[in-house]
Amino acid sequence: MKKRIAIFISGRGSNMEAIVRNTQTGLLKDCCEIALVFSNKPRAKGLEIAAGLGLSTASIPSKGKKREEFDAEVVRLLEPYRVDYIVLAGFMRILSPVLIRAYPNRIINIHPADTKAFQGVGAYEWAWENRLEKTYITVHYVDEGVDTGPVIAQQEVDLRGAASLQEIERRGLAVEHELYSKALRKVFIMGE
Ligand code: GRF
Repeated sequence: MKKRIAIFISGRGSNMEAIVRNTQTGLLKDCCEIALVFSNKPRAKGLEIAAGLGLSTASIPSKGKKREEFDAEVVRLLEPYRVDYIVLAGFMRILSPVLIRAYPNRIINIHPADTKAFQGVGAYEWAWENRLEKTYITVHYVDEGVDTGPVIAQQEVDLRGAASLQEIERRGLAVEHELYSKALRKVFIMGE
């Protein structure tokens, strides 16, 4: 049975696009279908892109809402879509136990650093400011901490010779776009 997923985004959605492509014609074709692309930002660029790709989209503005209140609305919105997994792809909001406990071990995130070395936003800036020679992209399960859940897959990014933050991001995103689908395949095929 193909796993039904909801992809959560807040902005540009380049990871979402890579996953969609792999679901249509690539690595995820036989094991995954996209039930919904959801955003907490109604004007997120990625929502437009998802709609243009023919996917179901939905958004609930999170601005000004308490975490638990917003997450309860999201849980209600998701119910009819019967999703097996929530895939966070640049979803810039910390989840509360309301959402995490509704999908235990069923929420996956991508983080552009080794989660043991750097948590939270700004991981590429951190790599740039510290002149790191390499960093690690991490795909992990989401638990109730911030970037603390069990690691599913990790891949090194060679940062040697990168002359700007933009170059670091470009190299990192190229790895993100490949690694996320590989890691999802591992979860969906090998099971829990
Ligand atoms: C990515 O770097 C991802 O790892 C981080 O936020 C960024 C989202 O980019 N969590 P995009 O929206 O997928 O293009």
